[in-house]
Amino acid sequence: MAERKIALTGIKPSGTPHIGNYLGMVVPALELARTYDAYYFIADYHALTMVRAAKEMMTNSYDLTATFLALGMNPEEVVFFRQSDVPEIFELTWILSCFTSKGLLNRAHAYKATVDKNVEAGEDADAGINAGLYNYPVLMAADILLYGSHVVPVGRDQKQHVEMARDIAQAINFAYREEILVIPEAVIKDEVATIPGIDGRKMSKSYDNVIPIFAPPKQLRQTVMQVVTDSRPVEDAKNPDEDNVYNIYKYFASPEQDAAMRAKYLRGGFGYGEVKQELYELLEARFGAAREKYNAYMADTTSLEAILMEGAKKARYQGSKVMKRARRAVGVRYKREMLVENV
Ligand code: TRP
Repeated sequence: MAERKIALTGIKPSGTPHIGNYLGMVVPALELARTYDAYYFIADYHALTMVRAAKEMMTNSYDLTATFLALGMNPEEVVFFRQSDVPEIFELTWILSCFTSKGLLNRAHAYKATVDKNVEAGEDADAGINAGLYNYPVLMAADILLYGSHVVPVGRDQKQHVEMARDIAQAINFAYREEILVIPEAVIKDEVATIPGIDGRKMSKSYDNVIPIFAPPKQLRQTVMQVVTDSRPVEDAKNPDEDNVYNIYKYFASPEQDAAMRAKYLRGGFGYGEVKQELYELLEARFGAAREKYNAYMADTTSLEAILMEGAKKARYQGSKVMKRARRAVGVRYKREMLVENV
């Protein structure tokens, strides 16, 4: 079989995933894994630049793993792992940081935004900014470059980070006149779906307006019933495209269900409670069986750990090949035992 290219992405563990994450992240990731060698990982050490709760760090990683597994990821096909289980990343991070100009990091959007906020508030420019946040782009570059990733699917907000990884890799290749690191390409996912949250704004954890993928049926139904609608009377025709219930429904409906629902809106003669019930039933049909799996995984962290360790082994094998090249290039000794066994 021809060697496939590598697609890699990192996901910051940030609490129970919602149906917006499902459409925007899980579905595209599983789709891509059909044509690429997929390396997907939980960026727990990136989360540590902010998170200060050990239990949350741990549980959120399990949550993400269980979510991907429950939604159909096959760990034999996708190398799914936790960043913190691959020590080579930190070795590469140091090498990369010696080729990263400080000015480049000063220009990183996330860092700059925090500085601007501080300045605006009349504080010291670097108030509350830890060096982890400042070096975030270097760690991310190591994540990408360690495995020889070709494509990196990310949201638009991460584009600059991937460009920095390219710059850093090019600096190293240039310094040693050798192609030590693969130059990665960002693949920007332009909001596959901007799904509204229950208040009508974009569904986002920070707005507290999400529909969790695996909420128990009763809670799922309650959440769906809270979706904000207008106050048109039952008999009136309604514009589906302006309604939050429909704008969620359409992403989960079959073409037939979608057509029938649109017709219903245009006809009128129904209450919003009725279409909310239909949305609930559609979500239950889509996620009910996956919820069972998710719950089973969450109750069995031993098997989640086993899956994550398998993933880490494969990732380390791939990563240690690149480390060998990198160590040799910069002139630090490479020792045989550093090559992680193939699995
Ligand atoms: N910074 C990314 C985010 O916040 C997560 C991430 C960490 C990542 N390492 C990565 C994404 C490597 C792609 C590749 O979403």
